[in-house]
Amino acid sequence: MKKSAFLFILLSFFAAKAQDNEMDSFIDDLMSKMTLQEKIGQLNLLPGGDITTGAEMESPIFDLAAKGQLGAILNIKGQEKIRLLQETAVKKSRLGIPVLVGQDVIHGNVTVFPIPLAQACSWNLEAIENGARIAAREATAQGIAWTYSPMVDIALDPRWGRVAEGAGEDPYYTGLVGQAMIRGYQGNYGKENMMACVKHFALYGAAEAGRDYNTVDMSRLRMFNQYLPPYRAALEANPGSFMSSFNVVDGIPATLNGWLLNEVLRNKWKFDGFVVTDYASINEAVVHGVGDQKTCVVKAIKAGTDMDMCAFAYIAHLEKCAEEGSVSVKDIDTACRRVLEAKYKLGLFADPYRFCDAKRLKTDLYTTEHRAAARDMAAQSFVLLKNADNLLPLKKQGTIALIGPLADTRNNLPGCWSTGDEVSRYTTLKEAMINAVGKKARVLYAQGCNIYGDEKTQNGATFNRPIPRVDDKAALEEALKTAAQADVVVCALGEMAEMSGESSSRTDLSLPEVQMNLLKAIVATGKPVVLLNFSGRPTIMKWESENVPAILNVWWGGSELGDAVCDIVFGDKAPSGRLVTTMPRALGQVPLYYNHLRTGRPIPEGHTGGFMKYQSNYLDESNDPLYPFGYGLTYTTFKYSDALLNGNKVSLSVTNTGSREATEVVQLYINDPVASVARPVKELKAFRRIVLKPGETANVEFEITRSMLTYYNAEGDEVFEPGDFNIMVGCNSSDAALQTLKYTIQ
Ligand code: BGC
Repeated sequence: MKKSAFLFILLSFFAAKAQDNEMDSFIDDLMSKMTLQEKIGQLNLLPGGDITTGAEMESPIFDLAAKGQLGAILNIKGQEKIRLLQETAVKKSRLGIPVLVGQDVIHGNVTVFPIPLAQACSWNLEAIENGARIAAREATAQGIAWTYSPMVDIALDPRWGRVAEGAGEDPYYTGLVGQAMIRGYQGNYGKENMMACVKHFALYGAAEAGRDYNTVDMSRLRMFNQYLPPYRAALEANPGSFMSSFNVVDGIPATLNGWLLNEVLRNKWKFDGFVVTDYASINEAVVHGVGDQKTCVVKAIKAGTDMDMCAFAYIAHLEKCAEEGSVSVKDIDTACRRVLEAKYKLGLFADPYRFCDAKRLKTDLYTTEHRAAARDMAAQSFVLLKNADNLLPLKKQGTIALIGPLADTRNNLPGCWSTGDEVSRYTTLKEAMINAVGKKARVLYAQGCNIYGDEKTQNGATFNRPIPRVDDKAALEEALKTAAQADVVVCALGEMAEMSGESSSRTDLSLPEVQMNLLKAIVATGKPVVLLNFSGRPTIMKWESENVPAILNVWWGGSELGDAVCDIVFGDKAPSGRLVTTMPRALGQVPLYYNHLRTGRPIPEGHTGGFMKYQSNYLDESNDPLYPFGYGLTYTTFKYSDALLNGNKVSLSVTNTGSREATEVVQLYINDPVASVARPVKELKAFRRIVLKPGETANVEFEITRSMLTYYNAEGDEVFEPGDFNIMVGCNSSDAALQTLKYTIQ
């Protein structure tokens, strides 16, 4: 290391130490003046009532703020209101401690980025970080200082609607996405940064049968190797807070689980921020059946839960518990200190109105720069699943029929969890397409059908963003007439926004019957068809994969989706998204994921189903996915060659063998064939995202590090077992796409 670099690190270390000391003495001084009640007040997070993300409740936020008993708030909207609340806390309460304002800023704000699952498909960590930075800039302009993001829960079961909010099924990659988002949100805690909250700790994504809030039961070995790594990796980016999850871990609700929060998160992993519960989860612990509210309060604070979100439980019981001795004042002090530290880091003591700058409301929301970034990210998130005869990109000529219930909806563009959207400002796909082709082509439109055929199914659920209902039969006829006039048909089908996200588990992940009927009828016309699949989760598309020439998965692409779809469909940009969740062939296969353990009776990839005596297979379906993890096509082809191992260096050549520039995601997987415990058939350990011009070759290099070869034992300690490893490189996780190199380390 150069002398100057060493000096810089040393100086930064001392500067950080000095800042910590300053913070410590400020908080020591403040806490010496606080009553027990005021300290407990800091642990109280209540809803503002302007947005609903859980059970609605009356909360006297202004009164409590004036009494110094409102530590934090969520679901309050409007900078003016936030300023008023802050003024109340600062001017009316005895010690003037500012309130921490939180909100679910999950994938953008007024400028809405694609849902996190879609963003993850970009494999572009810089762009993901930039998206989080933009979200923070917009949210902080509106008074928000703290976001409940990133969600780094591993999700293997697409029935679970919250698949939409995470980065898919891979622990390593999800950790990287989490880190990128934290860096983007928090920056260096400047005026345009907000605090991140890593959620939901832990195992929330493993809800049995994909039913939201359902129980979880898992071995420690699986936890440490498959589910916990992303939370741990997130810590490397220094998140200010963690959120505990609703579910039980080893039979104890996460919020009350001292092993999870104190032993693992704090003692083993050295997390030094604060832990907030999920929405009223102390009360849910009562429903889980582990005690009454007071007992759960005692267990929660002792377990290391610092802040109570919306259960009104800490404020109701902690003082009494301290008097009675079931909770020590030290426990309350520790939690209070952690919350005050967060406020200090955010600069709220220096300036409580830091995030209430009225000027920023005019300059920082939905700007041209933000929209361009969201459009670019959306285009990068789409995954081209099939493109027979290079149907895509389409030429801007002739007549294009745009058909489907999702082609002209503005309301549904943001997808699930968008608490800051302003939908009236967005462009629908139909509008974007008309605009994109200008005078060069004619765009005809027909809705074609409803999302569901049956009124009750569509409206029985509380969708806030319904799509206009039509008579399915008449709509189908109109669609066929429209298709008949066209040279090519683009179908916009799939889920509407609230069909994925929280509390949106589903048991059928195919296109609803009425949409299938429409699609089949259009395919039967013989016109070339492009299917745009809108979804917050993997869709079962076996028939589509066999019968529709081109399929582009566009997820929920955010406010700029319309333009982004046109960028790809008309070829101004080449697709570059790669799946981060396996796409099953049939629902009966789920959970289906690439990094599974071997069975003792494995069958080779490519076996198409059917009777195989005493083997681990289905009679009626293959074990293989329809589209594997890491998969995605583009408008060119790549050739992989010369994969070599030299010491611990892997090198290979990747050549663009087509006729246009495009992005490839080169992936490296490792398998440990013999270890003390059974290890997955392969695990992603590294990747490179490269852009190649036609004819260009890139030499891609990877270094095999020791940490790529380790796993965790049931105590969560890293284990390294020298020996033989299989190193696999290629363009997706299927065996057919990978070249294997043998690596031995002693
Ligand atoms: C969700 C969290 C969210 C919280 C606050 C809960 O229902 O599980 O992800 O951050 O509400 O809105």
